[in-house]
Amino acid sequence: MARSPLPAALRGLRIPAVASPLFIVSGPDLVIAQCKAGIVGSFPALNAREKDGEPVMLEAWLKRITEELDRHNQANPDRPAAPFAVNQIVHRSNARLERDLEICARWKVPIWITSLGARPEVNEAAHSCGGIALHDVINNTFARKAIDKGADGLIAVAAGAGGHAGPQSPFALVREIRAWFDGPLLLSGAIATGEALLAAQVIGADLGYIGSAFIATDEANADPDYKRMLVESGAEDIVTSTLFTGISGNYLKPSIARAGLDPDNLAHADPSSMNFREGSAKPKAWKEIWGAGQGIGAIDSIGPAAGVVDRIETEYRAALARTAALAAEYGKGE
Ligand SMILES: Cc1cc2nc3c(=O)[nH]c(=O)nc-3n(C[C@H](O)[C@H](O)[C@H](O)COP(=O)(O)O)c2cc1C
Repeated sequence: MARSPLPAALRGLRIPAVASPLFIVSGPDLVIAQCKAGIVGSFPALNAREKDGEPVMLEAWLKRITEELDRHNQANPDRPAAPFAVNQIVHRSNARLERDLEICARWKVPIWITSLGARPEVNEAAHSCGGIALHDVINNTFARKAIDKGADGLIAVAAGAGGHAGPQSPFALVREIRAWFDGPLLLSGAIATGEALLAAQVIGADLGYIGSAFIATDEANADPDYKRMLVESGAEDIVTSTLFTGISGNYLKPSIARAGLDPDNLAHADPSSMNFREGSAKPKAWKEIWGAGQGIGAIDSIGPAAGVVDRIETEYRAALARTAALAAEYGKGE
């Protein structure tokens, strides 16, 4: 199927990648570093929390990100920063949603990422300020619903992704969505190398969506032990469980053992237990039980986020060169 051209906000990136929003972990420092390094940076609006009576933190974060990226662009017209994205959790327990939509529209957020619910009014809020809305989905049914409700693009969250992953192989999921959808399609799940990023494009995605690889960085708001655990762990150390949020997610086994639970014998929890209210016990689960995807074998040190982008770019270019060699060998018809 012929593809529609990508929206301007997703074109001209240094590598075809969007850094995914990470609950608790991503804030202005990480987003600014990702955007300056040339890929889309993002954060969940819910990470910006103020105490009662304090100035609105989301407003302060958007001001800082916008101003710092503007300054960077003026100083580096040949190497401008990539645009940033804000993630909205569209779930009935998110009592801040309406307020956060209004703030993001006022700050003209260029890319809106929605999770856990597709609602036309959220897409309309994005469009009202010239932004685009990308919705994350774990199967083809949800993908169709998201586009019917006005999303501009999709994030296919496949098996092996950190946080709330889907159960499907990326090969199956991307193929089913690409059979009818020619718009922006991102692939999420265990993409932590340039090879995986190129593979995402080869199977039909436009861009890769990268999460866990950015947790082990200097700018990430994560416990130093969490970062070290990522360096020391591999795919075998990831367990899938519903226990912590009510829906299936991928977590680091050693963090579960540290919290006094047996990662190989976890109880199941019901989706009704999901709760994004401020002060709820659930963020604690993310604070103590650490999420990560299966791609963490590629993380072997803790350093600046720009270093992760440099590494992935080098690997991506090398993989492209190998693909050119494959094309020379297998690409000619008889
Ligand atoms: C610790 C952690 C927190 C996450 N928090 C969010 C979130 O708040 N909102 C969201 O849409 N996705 C969230 N995700 C999922 C990511 O957006 C993304 O789908 C995933 O990290 C990609 O897989 P990878 O980690 O294997 O790269 C989270 C993932 C992790 C690992």
